[in-house]
Amino acid sequence: MDPAQVWNLPTRHLGQRVLVYESIASTNDRAMELAGDPANDGVVVLAHEQTAGRGQYGRRWQCNPGDGVLMSVLLFPPPHLRRPVLLAAWAAVAVCSTIREITGLESRIKWPNDVLLHDRKVCGVLIEQGKAVVAGIGLNVNQGPEFFAAAGLPEGGSLASLSGSTFDVPRVARRLIEDLDANYDRLLSGLAEVENAWQRRLGLVGVAVEVECSDRSHRGILRTLSFAEMAVETAPGPSIRLRPETVRHIRATTVGGWQPTAG
Ligand code: BTN
Repeated sequence: MDPAQVWNLPTRHLGQRVLVYESIASTNDRAMELAGDPANDGVVVLAHEQTAGRGQYGRRWQCNPGDGVLMSVLLFPPPHLRRPVLLAAWAAVAVCSTIREITGLESRIKWPNDVLLHDRKVCGVLIEQGKAVVAGIGLNVNQGPEFFAAAGLPEGGSLASLSGSTFDVPRVARRLIEDLDANYDRLLSGLAEVENAWQRRLGLVGVAVEVECSDRSHRGILRTLSFAEMAVETAPGPSIRLRPETVRHIRATTVGGWQPTAG
């Protein structure tokens, strides 16, 4: 399947080959087809339109042609980076930088894989792993509020619907590739910088939270959060420690029962 265009960006790790398709079923599926050949490390698949765009939990990803960035990055990361939590954080942190550069606005990360602007979901990340890693990113750029109402997505928004300006989608895509590349470069030399940005954009440390795991939920103050573990103070005494992989959702909440001091 031939792309309509190929971009060759002067990046270090990803985007030196960007395959731009007019219409494709799913950029994640196309990237995964390329995973058989390690020479495709760093290839980015970009589409004007997806006919079967996929979201998390088997949902569809809806976006009218040309209104958003529909992108998948194919990577063969070293084993210590092949963790969905870390890869989703890498992608979400890069999206937040791109949003700031393009709109001047600060966005935040919603656990585990969403980016919110003014509390509306503007971006979703879908990490898939096989022989390689495919990081799929859908960033809503120019949809108007009527799109989200008609699509039954009251919590959705776009850079345009939330900022009042429209944006050049290929320019946003290029900027995002550059930010992903810069953050991947940082990850390769150590986790701390991306981890700190992720923790700050989540905004949950010191906050009363409900942490939903696969088997049960915990309520308390989130004391620490890293890629290795999080500590939740559920009662006076030692905090419980959880691996991020075991956590499905974290919501800011109010704590019933005892009153811990946030801080
Ligand atoms: C989510 O449900 O929040 C994740 C959405 C991920 C959507 C993107 S769009 C580009 C890439 N190709 C797909 O089929 N899905 C991802």
